[in-house]
Amino acid sequence: MEETLFLKKDMKKELSNYEFSNLKKALKLGREKVIDIIKQSGLKGRGGAGFPTGLKWELAYQEEADKKYIICNGDEGEPGTFKDRYLLENNPVKVLEGILIVAYAIGADEGYCYIRGEYLGPINIFEKVINEAEATGILGENILDSGFNFNLYLVKGAGAYVCGDETSLINSIEGKRGRSRIKPPYPIAKGLFDKPTVVNNVETLVSAVEIINQGLDKYLELGTENSRGTKLVCLSGDVNQPGVYEVEFGQVTLGEIIEQFGKGIRNYVPLKFLVPGGISTQVLTPAELNVPYTYEGIASAGSALGSGAVIVVDEGHDLVDLMLNVSRFFMDETCGTCFPCREGNRQVYHMLKEGKEGFTEKDVELIKNVGTTIHLAARCGLGQTSLNFIGSVFDKFGDELKLKGGEHYVTSKY
Ligand code: NAI
Repeated sequence: MEETLFLKKDMKKELSNYEFSNLKKALKLGREKVIDIIKQSGLKGRGGAGFPTGLKWELAYQEEADKKYIICNGDEGEPGTFKDRYLLENNPVKVLEGILIVAYAIGADEGYCYIRGEYLGPINIFEKVINEAEATGILGENILDSGFNFNLYLVKGAGAYVCGDETSLINSIEGKRGRSRIKPPYPIAKGLFDKPTVVNNVETLVSAVEIINQGLDKYLELGTENSRGTKLVCLSGDVNQPGVYEVEFGQVTLGEIIEQFGKGIRNYVPLKFLVPGGISTQVLTPAELNVPYTYEGIASAGSALGSGAVIVVDEGHDLVDLMLNVSRFFMDETCGTCFPCREGNRQVYHMLKEGKEGFTEKDVELIKNVGTTIHLAARCGLGQTSLNFIGSVFDKFGDELKLKGGEHYVTSKY
């Protein structure tokens, strides 16, 4: 059983074998140099939005405040995304090192690691990491004799997708209902308990550690000008070999990911489409997959790299069922604060349900209009992206769907 397996992990040993050499390097370099290195590396946030990490650190560093925080976002709610779980399970000490490096860089003396409540294994492991780190002086006062003080707390999520949004997550840590705040002000200026706060995804933190480890020159050799380094791809769906794979940006196309890492589509069924960055991103058809796996490559195809969740869908699925599944997710997960997101996602779900019998042009137009309204009016990423999948299925497979009153449009051949 999962929990038993993780209970066996000997964190004392893991920590005593780990030298925190990158933290030591960072402490030697000094705050400004560390921030400069991360800025020059071109690292972009790996949670999904791709905001420049070095700039985020710099802006938080420049804020004048009596207290600053760092939050490690391990809420990982995007369906199809399981890379942070992988890192927390397999390399938790490196995650801790990343937290310590950013905390040092921006001048934070307190931090939180927020892990989704369903991740019992990672929670278990990280709790032990914190306890052991406190016992060995890697957390607390005067870390590594550097004068740097830092305490870290673990917070478990309670199953709300919206708490992956940084402002909802901050509310959740503060003990408030998990719903988003209006941005700006951004957390770097007014975050946890209204203090400057850097919220970084787990993979972003581990990437930052690797940049310090490899050195800037070596890191800059990886990837492309706009997409530096490597990315963890979570490959799932109708492939022979799903899993977490580290891909160097620009070295493979999206289509090659299916073949090289996924070992092709299961049961030789033709590919219908692929979602490149979780269900918050637009679907891409087989004809659109010959683009490099980079932020810019996927954007040029009309979608987004997002969190790196590549979901492969073959022709053996009912399109309306897939859309209903996605729609149900957003209907359930909206925090309800923004009326268009709360009501719009509910309306779309019901329109899709009626569409089981087929759609007219007008139905499609209405669904798309509601989608545009939600996109424009919602204040957080949940609403803004909630219709990307559904809208793109209509755009790309609309002909298969406009059959009101006729036979159900997809008869699976497989
Ligand atoms: P965003 O673009 O608003 O912000 C991204 C980051 O940059 C935030 O930390 C924000 O504070 C910072 N930022 C942006 N502009 C700034 C400025 N002018 N000054 C200072 N800081 C600034 O995106 P958001 O809403 O945080 O994230 C949305 C993305 O999250 C979606 O694209 C989706 O792919 C992803 N997502 C990932 C999930 C996962 O499980 N990994 C779950 C749900 C969504």
